[in-house]
Amino acid sequence: MAYQNFNMEHQWLPFTPNRSFKKDPRIFVAADGMYFTTHDGKQVIDGISSLWCVGAGHNRKPINEAIKKQLDTLDYATAFQASNDQAFKASEIIAAMAPGDLNKVLFCNSGSEAADTSLKVALAYHRARGEGHRNVFIGREKGYHGVGFGGMSVGGIAANRKVFGAALLPRVDHLRFIHDPVNHAYIHGAEPVWQEDILLELEQRILPLHDAGNVAAIIVEPVAGSAGWYLPPKGYLKRLREICDKHGILLIFDEVITGFGRLGANFAADYYGVVPDMLNFAKCVTNGIIPLGGVICSDRIYDAMMKANASSPEYAVEFFHGYTYSGHPVACAAAIATLELYKQENLFERAGQMGKVLGDAMHGNLKGLPNVIGIRSLGLAGAVELSSVAGAPGKRAYDIFMDCFHHGVLVRPAGENLVVCPPYIVEKEQIERIVNVLADAIRKNA
Ligand SMILES: Cc1ncc(COP(=O)(O)O)c(C=O)c1O
Repeated sequence: MAYQNFNMEHQWLPFTPNRSFKKDPRIFVAADGMYFTTHDGKQVIDGISSLWCVGAGHNRKPINEAIKKQLDTLDYATAFQASNDQAFKASEIIAAMAPGDLNKVLFCNSGSEAADTSLKVALAYHRARGEGHRNVFIGREKGYHGVGFGGMSVGGIAANRKVFGAALLPRVDHLRFIHDPVNHAYIHGAEPVWQEDILLELEQRILPLHDAGNVAAIIVEPVAGSAGWYLPPKGYLKRLREICDKHGILLIFDEVITGFGRLGANFAADYYGVVPDMLNFAKCVTNGIIPLGGVICSDRIYDAMMKANASSPEYAVEFFHGYTYSGHPVACAAAIATLELYKQENLFERAGQMGKVLGDAMHGNLKGLPNVIGIRSLGLAGAVELSSVAGAPGKRAYDIFMDCFHHGVLVRPAGENLVVCPPYIVEKEQIERIVNVLADAIRKNA
């Protein structure tokens, strides 16, 4: 199939340089296991689980079959004032996987919707308890929580603030970023140890500035994924939990990337031993096959919302929120089959084991190459950071990404980083191939 056969005039591609794409398109027409087939018949290895989604690899029959069966049984049913059996089953499985008292699942369709949903829960929860004045949110520099106005506001992505800044939520502040490029340039499966306490700023400046009693929630990605796989300092998440508890602030973990196995555990919350009040998920929950996201809320939040409504009539809606496709039966059937498949094949454990292989390969082969200024690996993901081309931020990473693609390897450019996060089924030889192609591309683009 030649790409000249496609009419590419009508799809406006998301987060993609549309003009250069058309000159050198990357079009997938099939996928199986670790590989894509392109329009011109080339095989490309999926080094990024198709944007962190495809944990079990492509074209997995048990998931496909579950979806087909569900289509023939209950294709769709309204999510409001009714529900479906698949949504109840999926939420039961997800709640059982989640740590602590995270037991109540609010479904949505994406990570962006999960971010906005969790912020709305925080406001509604505080209001329900008579603390409606708690309406300040705190995110973190370089945080990514999707593209909705709530998620962009608590996120710390400069490009969002440049273009959409005027329309972001007003009462938002940000923690400083968690990376020390001098002392923690190279981190292999460890927690960076900081001499200073980088959360002192939260306690001594940010909270007093807004009055801690006005703060509704703090939202962070446990590991900063989209920015380029930046790891939290040792003890950071525990301390964040303590600060939130001390001041009655809700803690939200955005686990859209870290959820469902990427760190070799169910969630980063398990990996770090810190239970948030809400945990956002999407991506790997359906192996990327059908959109599904959600927020797992603590019993405490749910109970408070129900209690606050105790005096209102039983027909009154307690939380004024939801999406037409919340808990879509086909998406939930996909989630049930996906989570079962992860379990049957011990894929989370495998992600942890292969993560060590990936980390070894990246640190062993990429350190010392031209322009490489850092490598960070944890779980089954790693990033190599390069110095930027003067006056052309992101160009080097983009050129390397393109070079890798032309050599049959899909990696992800993120700022000045190249990120590798393959499906959990990845084999050692495939990791070696991904890293070798990446190494060659780094050398060529020096
Ligand atoms: C941590 C995090 N939150 C939210 C999102 C947004 O998810 P979506 O693109 O499904 O809206 C992403 C996407 O990469 C993410 O990494």
